[in-house]
Amino acid sequence: MALACGGRATLSRAAASLLGTRAASATACSVAPRLRSGRSTSSPGVTPLTRKGSDAGTANAAWVSNVATCNVSRRQLSSRGGDVDYSSLMAGPGTALHDDIMESAARKQTGVSLKTLIDTGRGDLLSGEMGLTGQDSLSTKQKMLIQVASFLHRELPIRLAHRVRDLESVPDMLAQKSVQQVREWYVISYEEIRKFPRPVTVDEEVRFAELLKGIYQRHAPVLLTMARGVWELRESFGPKDASRRGAKNRFGDFYDFERTHTFLDGFYMSRIGIRILIGHYLALQEAGADSWIGMVCQETSPAAIAEAAIEDAKFVCTRQYGDAPDVTLHGRLDLTFSYVPSHLHYIMLELIKNSMRATVDFHGLDEMDNNPIRVVIADGEGNEDVVIKVADEGGGIRRSYMTRIWSYLFTTADPAVQEGFINLGEVESDHAKESPLAGLGYGLPISRSYARYFGGDLSIVSMEGYGTDAFVHLSRLGHHSEPLP
Ligand SMILES: Nc1ncnc2c1ncn2[C@@H]1O[C@H](COP(=O)(O)OP(=O)(O)OP(=O)(O)O)[C@@H](O)[C@H]1O
Ligand SMILES: [Mg+2]
Repeated sequence: MALACGGRATLSRAAASLLGTRAASATACSVAPRLRSGRSTSSPGVTPLTRKGSDAGTANAAWVSNVATCNVSRRQLSSRGGDVDYSSLMAGPGTALHDDIMESAARKQTGVSLKTLIDTGRGDLLSGEMGLTGQDSLSTKQKMLIQVASFLHRELPIRLAHRVRDLESVPDMLAQKSVQQVREWYVISYEEIRKFPRPVTVDEEVRFAELLKGIYQRHAPVLLTMARGVWELRESFGPKDASRRGAKNRFGDFYDFERTHTFLDGFYMSRIGIRILIGHYLALQEAGADSWIGMVCQETSPAAIAEAAIEDAKFVCTRQYGDAPDVTLHGRLDLTFSYVPSHLHYIMLELIKNSMRATVDFHGLDEMDNNPIRVVIADGEGNEDVVIKVADEGGGIRRSYMTRIWSYLFTTADPAVQEGFINLGEVESDHAKESPLAGLGYGLPISRSYARYFGGDLSIVSMEGYGTDAFVHLSRLGHHSEPLP
C-alpha cells in the first residue's frame, strides 16, 4: 500500500517541486511579429522594444488616466509612496509590449480546482482527437503533458498580464523599487511565453517545460521582494506618532490601510495559483509514484504533516530560545485525503511557530512544560471539511490587534528581525533563508491564502490572558475553483 503523504521524505519531494530546480536558460524561440521593435533593454533575453510614439509623456498621460480605477487620487498616493517614473519602467505604457500585456489582461482567467488538477494529471480529461501530429504513437502521459502545456501556454500570459495591470493600478506600491523589480519579472516571463509557439509535439512540450522551470526559478523570490516593497511603502507613511518612534507597532495607519492589504491578498493569492499551475505541471513530468499526481497527494496525512511541522518548528524555536514547548496530537490521526502536502505543511509550521513563541514568552522556559500546545484533527466521513485546531496557552492576542494580525508586516517581534529580513540583499527564494521564529509578519496572512486557495479558511480565536486557538478548514471535496483576483 502507498505510504500516506506527509512525512519528511514525501514532503521533501513536494518541497523540491514547489521550489523548482535551477533551470537551464530559456529556449530561443520565434518572436511574434507584433512584438518586434527596437528599444534596448537591460534585461537579458528580452526583445528590445521602442515606444510607439516619440512623446513618452503623452503616452504616460493617457495611461495615468487609465489608473482611475484607484479610489484615491494619484496626487494623494504619490504624496505617501513617492512618484513613479513611468519612463524608466521596462515595457512601460506606450510600448507595443505594454499594449499586448493590457490586451491579455482584458481576457478572463480560467480557474482550476484540486479535482481538475487530479483529473487532468491522470489523463482523465483527454479527448479522443486532440489534433496532435503523430497522435497515435504518443503515450497517454505524453498526450496529457502536451494538453497541460498547451493550457498553460494560453493561461499563464493572461494571469501574468493581470498581475502587471494590478501592480500598475496601485501607484503607491509601484513607486517602490522592489515592486518595480517584481513587475519586471512578470513582464519578462510574460514575453518569454508569448514568444514560444504553442507546444503541440513532444519535443516542443519538453522545451516548454524547460522554459517554465526558468520562469518558476525567476519568480521564487517574489514574496520577499514584494515584502521589501511593502516595507519601503510603510516607511513612507511615517510613524503614526513621532514620539513613539522605536515602539514596536508604530505604523498603525499602515496596518489599517485596507486597500493595500486587500491588494496584497489578491496578489499573493494569484501567485499561489501561478506557482501551483507551473509546479504541478513540472511535477507531472516525474514518474508517477504511489498516490502522487503532480503536487497533489491522494493520501495526504494531516497527522504526518503536523509531526513534520512540529519537528521543524522545534528546531527553529530551540535555536532561538534553547528549548521548545511540547506539542501533543489528538483526533483522527489515521485520516488521509487528497491535498497538496506542501501547502498544509506551510500552514502548520507557521501556526505551530506562533504558538511556540507565545508559549515561551508567556510562561517562560521553566513553566512551559505544564502548557503543551495541542493539535487536534477532526473529520467524519460525511464532513464537508477536514478541520485542524492548533491550541496554545500562550496568553492570547489583545482584541485591538485582532484585525491587524492579518495585515502584512504586522508583528510584535523585535523590529530588528523584520529589518534583517528586508535587508537580506539579493534573495534567491522566499524559502531559501533560514527563517527566525517570528519577525516578518507574513505568517498568518499567507497561511490564510494557502488555506483559502482550495476553498478552505483559517481563523483565529483568542482569549487574552489565556491562549489562542487557530482553526484550519480544508475542503474535502476539492471541487472549489481557485479564487481568482
Ligand atoms: N498563537 C499566538 N499567540 C499570541 N500571539 C500570536 C499568535 N499567533 C500570532 N500572534 C500575533 O500575531 C502577530 C502576527 O503573526 P504572524 O505569524 O503573521 O507574524 P509573525 O509571527 O510576527 O512573523 P512571521 O512572518 O515570522 O510569521 C504576531 O507577531 C503575534 O503578535
Ligand atoms: Mg508567525
